[in-house]
Amino acid sequence: MQKILVWDLPVRLGHWLMVGGFALAWLTGDSETFRLVHVIAGATVLAVASFRLPWGFIGSRYARFVDFVRGPTRVRSYAMSLLKLQPEHHVGHNPAGGWAIVLLLGLGILTGLAGWAIYNDIGGHWLEELHEGLAAAMLTVVIVHVAGVVSGSLVHGENLVRAMVNGYKRGAPEAAIRSARPLAAGLLLGWVALACWWIAN
Ligand code: HEM
Repeated sequence: MQKILVWDLPVRLGHWLMVGGFALAWLTGDSETFRLVHVIAGATVLAVASFRLPWGFIGSRYARFVDFVRGPTRVRSYAMSLLKLQPEHHVGHNPAGGWAIVLLLGLGILTGLAGWAIYNDIGGHWLEELHEGLAAAMLTVVIVHVAGVVSGSLVHGENLVRAMVNGYKRGAPEAAIRSARPLAAGLLLGWVALACWWIAN
């Protein structure tokens, strides 16, 4: 086991853009003064989540959905390994965390689309209620996600937050990804900038 590159740049950049976008959108949700800030923050979340979907099929090994979206049997066996205090180590996302990620991406897209429709005067009061409900559901999943990250870091004795920053985790040398895919990260930045510019104009 040694330090190996696991998270490519689009995954890491997308993650922290999503964290910033979600936090800002949450803080400015009720403010008239900061309406544009809210809309741009929401557009950032929507742009990152919509980029992440195709990246889940064509991205590097651990970014792919096939690597971390697992059936109930694998989720149960991972949960059991935690309870027995003999946690299975996964180089990529663990089977339980994988479902939180799918939920966060799905909710990010639905919340963003509902917000976009409201901003464009499509739908009525019900859509505003739906937007708020989706955002609240997302906050709940975020809390569970962060609790999972903190407890996962403790049981595995590995700082998962630092790994989401520098891309490195523990693993066998042959399990490493070969490239951080900087070009795709540039595309992601362009896509986010385009979405923000488009919504603001
Ligand atoms: C300060 C708060 C947060 C921290 C410390 C954090 C940390 C992390 C870490 C360490 C991972 C990798 C987990 C693993 O090793 O399997 C991860 C993945 C992920 N997190 Fe967070 N997270 C935070 C907030 C959020 C928020 C607010 C969102 C969404 C709005 C979010 C969405 C995601 C997604 C989508 C992934 C999967 C990354 C990918 O595969 O592209 N996180 N997070």
